[in-house]
Amino acid sequence: MNKKIIELRDVSFVYDSENAPGVKALDEVSLDIYEGEFVGIVGKNGSGKSTLAKLLNALILPSSGKVFVGGMDSADPQYTTDIRKVCSMVFQNPDNQMVATIVEEDTAFGPENLGLAPDKIRRRVDESLKAVGMYDFKDKKPHQLSGGQKQRVAIAGVIAMHPQCIVFDESTAMLDPAGRADLINIMHTLNSEGVTVIFITHYMEEIVGASRIIVMGDGKIIGDGTPREIFSNPKWLEENRLSVPEIVALSTALREGGLDIPPGILSEDELVEALCRLK
Ligand SMILES: Nc1ncnc2c1ncn2[C@@H]1O[C@H](COP(=O)(O)OP(=O)(O)OP(=O)(O)O)[C@@H](O)[C@H]1O
Ligand SMILES: [Mg+2]
Repeated sequence: MNKKIIELRDVSFVYDSENAPGVKALDEVSLDIYEGEFVGIVGKNGSGKSTLAKLLNALILPSSGKVFVGGMDSADPQYTTDIRKVCSMVFQNPDNQMVATIVEEDTAFGPENLGLAPDKIRRRVDESLKAVGMYDFKDKKPHQLSGGQKQRVAIAGVIAMHPQCIVFDESTAMLDPAGRADLINIMHTLNSEGVTVIFITHYMEEIVGASRIIVMGDGKIIGDGTPREIFSNPKWLEENRLSVPEIVALSTALREGGLDIPPGILSEDELVEALCRLK
């Protein structure tokens, strides 16, 4: 069994602002995530996904309960920096994430803050920009890049710090279909190299390849299983206002129309295979 990288114990989080006093965004959530997992997190608007993400990076601290990242208690200020080294975040808006005026300087920002030697920084910057396919753009300025390219640069900056876990909070939301597909490929490559990926999205299609899907509803975890388990129950997904991937919807429609097709189909290939098996 792989090592636990994230642990939440009975975590609640209450936002207490002047306009919205006492909004309970998370309600006694317990959750373990292990090294090497690719976890997709879905759930309707306001269900607590971003709040959960921010807790994993010690951007916010639980109102009650405990969050451990790499075994470190997020409420203990001596661990804040180390927690952010273990678990980094990529947000939704690529425009808010570049801090420098040149791509390679932006990628170097994190490693510089880690206090690494210049030759090591150089190596990490080059390897990270290559990993996201942006090495040829290393001398460009942000306004010369598309949204997808900026998002890839943001990821390069994160990869350059060699985190064990990366949380993507709707990082594909502002990209075109090609940009999305690129980003999801990068996530899977990182995951295959051992990085734990936590990917929050509203698009179910994007997480059919995850190893695990967590469904949030009103501040609680209401579903937790493999994509096959989660997508085997389209009625439940609809009740929770979650879309069903097209291929799952089609398979369900065919089954309800009387064809002997098993539940839990996730790809075109699987559907074709099931159709070929029909007598
Ligand atoms: N800064 C804030 N101040 C007050 N309430 C907040 C704040 N941020 C979020 N909330 C509330 O907390 C709850 C959970 O919000 P959160 O952003 O975690 O949900 P989410 O699942 O990420 O939603 P979305 O899909 O829209 O991104 C919601 O009721 C939201 O209105
Ligand atoms: Mg959110």
